[in-house]
Amino acid sequence: MTRREQIAALIREEMQELPVESAPAAAGQPLVLPPYGADEVIDAVDALLSTRVTMGRRCRDFEAAWATYCGRKHGVMVNSGSSAVLLMLAAAVATGRLAPGDEVLCPAVTWSTSLFPIVQCGLVPVMVDVDPATLCISPESARAARGPRTRAVLAVHLLGQAADVDAFDNLLVLEDACGAHGAAYKGRRVGSLGGAASFSFFFSHHITTIEGGMIVTDSDVLADAMRSARAHGWVREREDRAEWVSRHKEIDPRFLFVSSGYNLRPTEIAGAFGLVQARRLPAWVARRRQNHRDWCDRLRDLVDVFPEAPGTEHAGFAFPMLARGDRASLMAFLEARQIETRPISGSNLARQPAFAALGARCPVPLPVADTVHQRGFFVGNSHAFGPAHGERLASIITEWSQS
Ligand SMILES: Cc1ncc(COP(=O)(O)O)c(C=O)c1O
Repeated sequence: MTRREQIAALIREEMQELPVESAPAAAGQPLVLPPYGADEVIDAVDALLSTRVTMGRRCRDFEAAWATYCGRKHGVMVNSGSSAVLLMLAAAVATGRLAPGDEVLCPAVTWSTSLFPIVQCGLVPVMVDVDPATLCISPESARAARGPRTRAVLAVHLLGQAADVDAFDNLLVLEDACGAHGAAYKGRRVGSLGGAASFSFFFSHHITTIEGGMIVTDSDVLADAMRSARAHGWVREREDRAEWVSRHKEIDPRFLFVSSGYNLRPTEIAGAFGLVQARRLPAWVARRRQNHRDWCDRLRDLVDVFPEAPGTEHAGFAFPMLARGDRASLMAFLEARQIETRPISGSNLARQPAFAALGARCPVPLPVADTVHQRGFFVGNSHAFGPAHGERLASIITEWSQS
């Protein structure tokens, strides 16, 4: 055995007990389970031992694998889902698809860093209510909220449910698929539905690179704008770099800066994780979908649930519910029985203290978002859970409603 093989064998032995593929319901229902095994660690250690740890081959291979999975031409990997949303919007502005001051429709119920990058890119968020059946942006509310400067919609596929992206005529559709890996809309996978789409690979998501994210797109122009803005604004990773270099022969091409930029790059440790995790995803999404369907059936008489919308495939990122009765009391009851809970993302973001300073437009009422704010919560869904977790949830919520 070589030394590398010995290291790999030790890692396998050390990690064999982790409940990566299945976890007993009696042990409780955490939001997140250890979502990776020895294969990811061995490849990450390999990257570390090689000392080639900054963005390189592994990240590029994962970009290609993820773009293919989403049915897209380009993948641009970054260090978080929040960075992915930021870079997607920044590139839309840098390439003239959007102009400063343009309005972007944004669902009131989403994660904070779906909303904040709109403002950070000089755009104006317009808050829109969510659909009571899907928790995604409501087409009716969006129609009422649109104004003469509305140019785009951030279609957030919330908690694994694909948004109704066909409902937005004449707007640039940008997908926030940070929590919807593997979901589909009318037979098409999310990520392939608009001009570009963001994903998160944070620890608790369908697959993880620990922290990490990616944007996918078919546009060469957008992808190149993102590659520059991801890394200092320089030319290096752009596909059109030869043209830039020949136009600016007086500047050293290694430090040729062609746009404004950030540093949002991932590491090879993240790339190594992503490559292994992407192979695991299809089976994991299938298990999450099964859980979602099964738990909706078991719980629908006890709480309001959100079954998969017709024409979509739900990717089951967490399991959202609306309490019938005192939400805080139900959440405390579940927590006391080792079932972790959280509010549904930022709930109604227009009610968060950060909102006032954003300069967002709020032209329509947000009654569904308010209901989610008051009654909504989620528990973890995971490929390692199954029907027994749904059964235990149902029995605990029944006990609570009878107490
Ligand atoms: C819809 C949505 N957008 C953006 C993000 C941010 O992703 P990250 O935590 O990787 O920054 C999340 C995180 O869960 C999310 O759910």
